[in-house]
Amino acid sequence: MFKKDVYIDRRKRLVSKMSGGIALFPGHTDSPMNYISNIFHFRQNSSFLYYFGLDFPDIAAAIDLDSGESIVFGNDVTMDDIIWMGPQPSMRERCAEVGVTDSRPYNDLFDYVKKAQDSGRKIHFLPQYRGETKILMSSLLGMKAIDVNEHQSVELIKAVVAMRNIKDEYEVEELIKAAATGYEMHVAAMKMAMPGVWEQKIAGTVEGIALAGGGMLSFPIILSQDGQTLHNHDHSQTLKEGRMMLTDTGCESSMHYASDNTRTVPVGGKFNQRQRDIYNIVLAANNNATAMAKPGIPYFDCHIEAARTLAAGLKDLGIMKGDPEEAARIGAYALFQPHGLGHMMGLDVHDMEDLGENYVGYDEETKRSEIFGLSGLRLGRKLEPGFVFTNEPGCYFIPELIDKWESEKKFPDFINYDKAREYLDFGGIRLEDDLLVTDKGVEIIGERIPITVEEVEETMNS
Ligand code: GLY
Ligand code: MN
Repeated sequence: MFKKDVYIDRRKRLVSKMSGGIALFPGHTDSPMNYISNIFHFRQNSSFLYYFGLDFPDIAAAIDLDSGESIVFGNDVTMDDIIWMGPQPSMRERCAEVGVTDSRPYNDLFDYVKKAQDSGRKIHFLPQYRGETKILMSSLLGMKAIDVNEHQSVELIKAVVAMRNIKDEYEVEELIKAAATGYEMHVAAMKMAMPGVWEQKIAGTVEGIALAGGGMLSFPIILSQDGQTLHNHDHSQTLKEGRMMLTDTGCESSMHYASDNTRTVPVGGKFNQRQRDIYNIVLAANNNATAMAKPGIPYFDCHIEAARTLAAGLKDLGIMKGDPEEAARIGAYALFQPHGLGHMMGLDVHDMEDLGENYVGYDEETKRSEIFGLSGLRLGRKLEPGFVFTNEPGCYFIPELIDKWESEKKFPDFINYDKAREYLDFGGIRLEDDLLVTDKGVEIIGERIPITVEEVEETMNS
């Protein structure tokens, strides 16, 4: 965990942004896999980690937004716990490490909330996404579990987003640690991408590297020679010569800061001409978006620049036609990249998606587009120093989508469907880097994973 002053300062700044009342932060409980004592690996709620740093289950916290005081509710371990889990520090000791002096037994939470409600104080809480937490909030607040999120506090969401969107130097250090492990994961995957290798063998090896790095995966691995399926978690195929393997994977540092990178490599380690052509278009889209990104530039504009680059490259190959800039603005390119250029990243791989994508990636000035493809962009707002986000353009040949658009006669002035059909067996390419906005521009977090055709071939054959 960070030094206690980091957490004290974060809570103080949160109080200064709020108008009063109580901010309630329920932590996570353990989640059983198949019976109560056989559990999934514990993952704490990210906003709880941000303000309280305590990375263990069955605790909750409150900040009195009028007095500024923080309380953590949780129980000391019993002798039974010590027998099975070994000795643990007391709640008082654990809370002291994050600058909280008021620690109370867990059940006191119920009385605390009731008293606050009875005296007419506003209870602010963030949207909840786990059943167990919704049930807890339901019994604390006296409402049905399915209604809990109707009472989420937009004031608290906005205050938390404003803080978590700007990464401080300690957070950047953690992100760099995650990037270093992410680098190892990707290089290992590249070296294994040979004909006859089972995708699952590579996925398992990559996950092992994440675990050995001291954290866990930041999301389930996407790894497949069918890269045209954007989130392909099926790793059941055996790699074949002539295909490309797309690997979209990242890890968490031991303090839960994420990495998220994608590389796509030719099975066997040598690009053929067709692969090289499409690959270099996606690489140019990635590089052009990075070159444009800096404080004050809306990330929406970087998305348009990547889409324009994609449309221009596909036009050179005869797959698209017309004006690439217009193809980008009206969404004609989205047949080949039906997703956004990137998303915020931090304690969550899609940072704060639980709080609402539009609060995180958009604002009063920049509203989300409703055009297919552009509407999938999770981050559109003007970039600010301290933002951390992904740059992940792609090019995919999705047979079902090509059939649909052709039958609907969509964008006939921009798409050469006959030519696109020649690529139905191609798959997909995505190239994803993680960027930090500095005062002047952006920098890639950590060392850039091999990405040019030459770097990839050299890595795969070394
Ligand atoms: N890396 C997976 C995603 O960004 O959705
Ligand atoms: Mn991503």
